[in-house]
Amino acid sequence: MNFDTTALTNRERYQLLTSLVVPRPIAWVSTHTPDGRPNLAPYSYFAALSATPFLVGVSIGSRRGEPKDTLRNLRDTRAFCVNVVTEAQIAAMNESAGEYPPEVDEFARAGLRAARAETVDAPYVEECPAVLECRLFQEVPLEGSTNTLVIGEVLRVRLADSVALAPGTLNADTATLRPVGRLWGDHYALVGEMPTLPRPKL
Ligand SMILES: Cc1cc2nc3c(=O)[nH]c(=O)nc-3n(C[C@H](O)[C@H](O)[C@H](O)COP(=O)(O)O)c2cc1C
Repeated sequence: MNFDTTALTNRERYQLLTSLVVPRPIAWVSTHTPDGRPNLAPYSYFAALSATPFLVGVSIGSRRGEPKDTLRNLRDTRAFCVNVVTEAQIAAMNESAGEYPPEVDEFARAGLRAARAETVDAPYVEECPAVLECRLFQEVPLEGSTNTLVIGEVLRVRLADSVALAPGTLNADTATLRPVGRLWGDHYALVGEMPTLPRPKL
């Protein structure tokens, strides 16, 4: 099989992209409206971009030609939090993904507590063991796409005591973090075997 991506439909391109770039980490993005109404939604077009400065990127699609609530809010407040979805939050994450109207508070809907970030004007999910507090660093229009790439600079990282660090480092121990990855459609991946491969020495 061999596909000319320019000859495929939007749906087919989406299917190939999201089933081959896997597993994707999930940014559970929390924001609020300028008048303080919380919003929460998962985004798996999500990547680490740079350590210095500390940057992460989220690609946000549109809904019926309009920006999603997350994009609208973070444009207004210039802030968002990325809550790392772990095994304990998988059902709540899915509940928060409904295409709800802007007045719906997905924290309440999913039975979660919203706490106030220390460094940016955004809420975070108190139940999440790892949270990145981000200021809006850059918004990048993707030419020809209905998606917008949002780059956040992480100003503060919150880690619960349940997350161990590898001795002498700030590497969060994956076995205690228990992150969830997105596959395609409604399918997810949990952490399985974790082989260790020392890099070749020259
Ligand atoms: C696991 C998962 C990952 C998702 N990833 C994305 C994504 O990367 N980009 C996107 O635009 N929508 C994505 N969605 C859909 C949004 O979560 C959904 O449109 C949500 O209602 C947007 O909420 P908002 O309008 O409050 O921002 C994803 C949904 C799920 C369940």
